[in-house]
Amino acid sequence: MANKGGLEGIVVADVQTSLVDGVNGKLIYSGYSIEDLAANASFEEVFFLLHNVRLPNATELEAIRSQIATEGVVPQPVLDMMKTLPKGTPAMAAVRTATSMLSPYDADAENLTDKEVARNKAARLTGQVAAICAAWVRITKGEEPVAPRADLTLAENFVYMMTGEDPDETASAAVNVYLVLLAEHGMNASTFTSRVVTATGSDMHSAVVAAIGALKGPSHGGANAEAMKMFMEIGEPENVQPWFDTHIKDGDRRIMGIGHRVYKAPDPRAAVLKEHAERLAESSGNTKWYEIAVKLADAARADEYFIERKLFPNVDYYSAIVLSTLDLDIDMFTPLFVMARMAGWTANIVDQMQGRLIRPKANYVGPVDLSWTAVEDR
Ligand code: ACO
Repeated sequence: MANKGGLEGIVVADVQTSLVDGVNGKLIYSGYSIEDLAANASFEEVFFLLHNVRLPNATELEAIRSQIATEGVVPQPVLDMMKTLPKGTPAMAAVRTATSMLSPYDADAENLTDKEVARNKAARLTGQVAAICAAWVRITKGEEPVAPRADLTLAENFVYMMTGEDPDETASAAVNVYLVLLAEHGMNASTFTSRVVTATGSDMHSAVVAAIGALKGPSHGGANAEAMKMFMEIGEPENVQPWFDTHIKDGDRRIMGIGHRVYKAPDPRAAVLKEHAERLAESSGNTKWYEIAVKLADAARADEYFIERKLFPNVDYYSAIVLSTLDLDIDMFTPLFVMARMAGWTANIVDQMQGRLIRPKANYVGPVDLSWTAVEDR
């Protein structure tokens, strides 16, 4: 039988970071349900939890919050390089490039063995990547980047660095819940990528840059931007059914933000994000994108094709609506996913350090026993 590819169902590591139960639609990070964490946790608490497999006490929480904020300063040459990137550079390409350039400025970049050094580097890099994302928002508007403030959480700092003003509470809370929900997710493609790079003995910056590259694709993190573009293409709630009939039922397009390799039940993150999307859309005074998203999900859920294949909205579907209320360009949606997943990637990278080389094999299906032909005879 031909190999379907995709390493589906293959276990590559024992982990303590997250359990993705695709049959029952459940997700836990190191023991805590995603619903509990989304209702109560700050991103910093989740960062600590993923790295330490326990929640921080008050002193530890303040230490990690302060470390991410104070060490999250981006070296000036990196910001200067970002300003030279051509107009129209995709935000994910800018974030990937700038993240790579952080390593020569990090004194610990090539320390590949000490896990304590690695945990500190992870906190620093997490703060810096958020500052890079906010800097890109400002640079593309012709504004000077703003450095992080020492007294803020990462979610507040992102809003502050993006706007240059005291962070709005609603926006910061929306960013925080988004960061918590997307911080970690089993052996997803980008986390696997980060582990493959780390298992060769390479450094954390290389592993994170490779993971950003994997997340960029529309089958993975790029789907949040593609979902929003799709809602905008539909344009109005009354266009949903005709659009669905033309492009999905009678066409060959996929609904972006629907379907998942592991979840064959509703993605629990989508349910939480749907509630936030509804509230934020109402308070922003623009409920159109939310209404379109709900109508399209309902159209899919009523369709035999989607029912048979157990296709439900995934995390990217309603997160597109949440992010749209933050006044972000669609191009910035996937960089926000990067900010969140830094927690999970780095926890997996530290766990993988000094682990065994990840090296699967290929099933050769090409020709055999050919004889060499000189170039002039071909
Ligand atoms: N719309 C329509 N049909 C779909 C969709 C969709 N969004 N997703 C899957 N299907 C169909 C496939 O055509 C296939 O049908 P078939 O059995 O008749 O061939 C079946 O469902 C299974 O799909 P696969 O592509 O084999 O599933 P796989 O596990 O490889 O892919 C993926 C999962 C990539 C997420 C897929 O569902 C998809 O492309 N979704 C849209 C993109 C997206 O939302 N990606 C984000 C995923 S979540 C994340 O990474 C954070």
